[in-house]
Amino acid sequence: MSVIEIENLTQDYQIGFWRKRNVRALDSLNLRVEAGEVFGFLGPNGAGKTTTFKILMRMLRPTAGEARILGQPLDDLRMRARIGYLPERPYFYHYLTAREFLVFCGALCDLPRDRAAKRAADLLDQVGLSDSADKHLRKFSKGMLQRAGLAQALINDPEVLFLDEPMSGLDPLGRREARELIANLRARGKTIFFSSHILTDVEAMCDRVAILNRGRLVESGRLSEILKTRSNEIEAVVSGVNEEILAELREFALEVQPTPEGARARLESDRDIARLLEVIHHANGRLVSVNPARESLEDFFMREIGGMK
Ligand SMILES: Nc1ncnc2c1ncn2[C@@H]1O[C@H](COP(=O)(O)OP(=O)(O)OP(=O)(O)O)[C@@H](O)[C@H]1O
Ligand SMILES: [Mg+2]
Repeated sequence: MSVIEIENLTQDYQIGFWRKRNVRALDSLNLRVEAGEVFGFLGPNGAGKTTTFKILMRMLRPTAGEARILGQPLDDLRMRARIGYLPERPYFYHYLTAREFLVFCGALCDLPRDRAAKRAADLLDQVGLSDSADKHLRKFSKGMLQRAGLAQALINDPEVLFLDEPMSGLDPLGRREARELIANLRARGKTIFFSSHILTDVEAMCDRVAILNRGRLVESGRLSEILKTRSNEIEAVVSGVNEEILAELREFALEVQPTPEGARARLESDRDIARLLEVIHHANGRLVSVNPARESLEDFFMREIGGMK
């Protein structure tokens, strides 16, 4: 049994006041997410991701199709107690402190007060808000609110998490912490379905992804299967190199991209590695990594979606 089953889900929004017309935001979406997966839901602005989340959370009634979570229909209350949700634009009670807000969310999930208090403290710590726990939410920055939203989604220790852009508004440290949080949840066997525009995060965290465009599924599967492998090409990352070395590398590498620490060089095959080593060692540079060259998710996105918009 898949943890999330989406079948032919379709959503039309009615727009216009005098002359009403329908806009199809989601068009026969089929998707399955298996137990323990971290599943990335991608697509450009307006693709239909939030619409999908809203249907799954029963904030919208779909025009057609159906979905099940943990094998149950969407309105099953016992199933709903086992899931957590971070909305794209969470609504907060601004006069509560972060701690009060979480205890309140705990109460909504029927947690006894002392357990809710303990859980709130743990979660505030996990999302890096311990120091601001007793501050009013109206004084929180955007990223701090996002952290509070993440904590809220976890209050009932859910088995399945629905996160609509969990990384949005987070600073680099916050993003790393959120990635670690998700990795921990995965290690504890949770299933995580999340949308994101931050492709490097998606690449680092997901088992599988689905790519949506204009309400339609463009592609889904393991990243390693979706992304083209570039035949025998090799990607070498080097550090401690100067302009001169970069110029030498450019003589034989297919592509050399400077990075803050050094450079990323794409080589035609592993035969060029010896030459690369010779060049960088001569300048006291260092080889950081060598990998088969693979299309990045960003390249894929541009190839698949770029031409369609
Ligand atoms: N309440 C609404 N009424 C009318 N149209 C809507 C409504 N909400 C969303 N839409 C339309 O549905 C489509 C999908 O929107 P949705 O919010 O699901 O996209 P998204 O993939 O979450 O985008 P983003 O990455 O920008 O968050 C868009 O064309 C949007 O204009
Ligand atoms: Mg959205």
